Amino acid sequence: MEDNKKEKIKYNPWKMGVLICLGLMSVFALYLSMRFMTDSVDYQVTEEDHFKYGSTGGERLAGIPVGIWNALPGLCRRHLPKGDFAHGYEAFGFIYEKGKDYPVGSSIRRHAGLDRVFLNCATCHAGLVRTSSEADPMLVLGMPSNTVDLQAFQSFMFNCVTDERFNPIDIITEAEAAGADYDLIDKITIGVVVAPLVKDLLLLLRDRFSYMAELPRFGPGRYDTFGPAKVLMNWDMSKIPPAEQVGVVDYPSIWNHSKRLGMQLHWDGNNISVEERNRSASFGTWAMPVTLDRQSIKRIENWIWDKAQPPKYPLPINLELSKKGAVIYQALCRDCHGENGQDFTGKFVGEVVPIKQIGTDRNRLDSYTYDLAVNQNTLYAGFEKDRFKHFRKTWGYANMPLDGLWLRAPYLHNGSVPTLRDLLSPAAERPQIFYRGHTVLDSKDLGFVHTKPTEKGRILFRIDTRVRGNGNSGHEGFIYGTELSEPDKAALIEYLKTF
Ligand code: HEC
Ligand code: HEC
Repeated sequence: MEDNKKEKIKYNPWKMGVLICLGLMSVFALYLSMRFMTDSVDYQVTEEDHFKYGSTGGERLAGIPVGIWNALPGLCRRHLPKGDFAHGYEAFGFIYEKGKDYPVGSSIRRHAGLDRVFLNCATCHAGLVRTSSEADPMLVLGMPSNTVDLQAFQSFMFNCVTDERFNPIDIITEAEAAGADYDLIDKITIGVVVAPLVKDLLLLLRDRFSYMAELPRFGPGRYDTFGPAKVLMNWDMSKIPPAEQVGVVDYPSIWNHSKRLGMQLHWDGNNISVEERNRSASFGTWAMPVTLDRQSIKRIENWIWDKAQPPKYPLPINLELSKKGAVIYQALCRDCHGENGQDFTGKFVGEVVPIKQIGTDRNRLDSYTYDLAVNQNTLYAGFEKDRFKHFRKTWGYANMPLDGLWLRAPYLHNGSVPTLRDLLSPAAERPQIFYRGHTVLDSKDLGFVHTKPTEKGRILFRIDTRVRGNGNSGHEGFIYGTELSEPDKAALIEYLKTF
């Protein structure tokens, strides 16, 4: 009997066939699982490279497959801003370093079988500066982005997804033209699964972010801080009262974080916790408790804690004049803005000045509401470690340190004043209209060149300060320096170059 059975198994071709099939299927399943269950990122050796190209985890949810990312500028050329650029996304002010295929402020993660790209902190917190129009640009990490127009980039993506060319065949053809090397499985995955998924995601976002079309244009270096948070919490954006709609801000700098411990952070001082600020910032890169790459974010946090520093002012400083300026600074500005560019001690530093007193544009303040504070504090209720506990509603704007001030123009929370000299003038004398997005330093008035409509073929943004949210009033009166004589202003400007 025994022998008989063995023989049957040995020679039954059906059973052999089934076994071989099962074997092959398990090898194929193993192959597919190895191919699709992956989750890995390239390790960036230096902290700086990690800030530029490291991941926050956002690609796991919102990452665009690199083939599609590379295909889109070609696929939707007619939706790109005008200009002749080596990389399509340069049209939106994204910065490319020599030899890099992806911009500063992007990271790549291999997830679910494909390399996916998404944006990180450096998109908004790194910028370019040139000491003259002939000089090479210098990339500065931690300074507010001055070139990236994220709203225009977003509009491009939304226009592209509704273009007839956004279909699997054209996407794959364009991706291959842009260098993708796809095998059959890639093509099937992209054509049948990925392209439709990306399309659905973009269409959903397009719908959710349609409220932005009603807002004044942001231009490069600015974004709406809390609108997207309201969107992600499923608020009905059409029901938000007009006074709470426009929360457009200029990006802040993020150096010297350890010295900001205990200060009320954000333009309106709505959060006192440095660590929570970083986590809420990660939210902006689509990194949420389930997708957050904690180790990677910790590395960014450690770097901005004390290593990230503004570079020294690169042009000569008139020391005698600067000394005179220091005396004026001590008398007028120190209590609110700190001892100097490295020592932030001061009576009121990191506290909120009531809106009535500071008098700057109140839209950003009003866009952050009591309801939003309560909602943010209950967000992630199931994730005790990740819960926000420190958001609160305030009634003014915060006194912040002025480190690296020469890289932070245009000034004020909404970026409505092009130079420091203009900020030291009464609002009635500040320019009503100027251009944002230039990278050449204005060393006389301290800020960036702001009277030219283009820079190297890139069209700059004409900001009109009479538009809602762009108001350039406030920070006026004796203690704010707007009553100083011209020579005193020149001295104060010279001193502030040392920050
Ligand atoms: C989409 C652009 C954007 C991205 C991406 C972004 N931020 Fe920000 N960040 C902002 C804006 C805008 C503010 C100011 C918010 C406000 O007060 O209205 C800010 C504020 C901050 C602040 C507080 C600065 C202060 O002194 O008030 C820190 C710290 C910060 N971001 C760190 C990060 C980190 C770390 C990341 C990446 C995990 C990140 N940000 C990603 C736009 C961005
Ligand atoms: C009573 C406190 C107070 C005093 C005094 C004060 N400031 Fe300010 N300053 C603020 C506040 C608050 C803001 C933020 C206002 C906003 O953005 O709406 C600010 C913003 C600024 C900014 C813009 C920073 C940026 O990144 O855009 C500069 C520059 C500045 N102040 C310089 C000065 C100088 C120079 C003096 C002294 C002549 C001075 N301030 C006096 C409270 C003060």
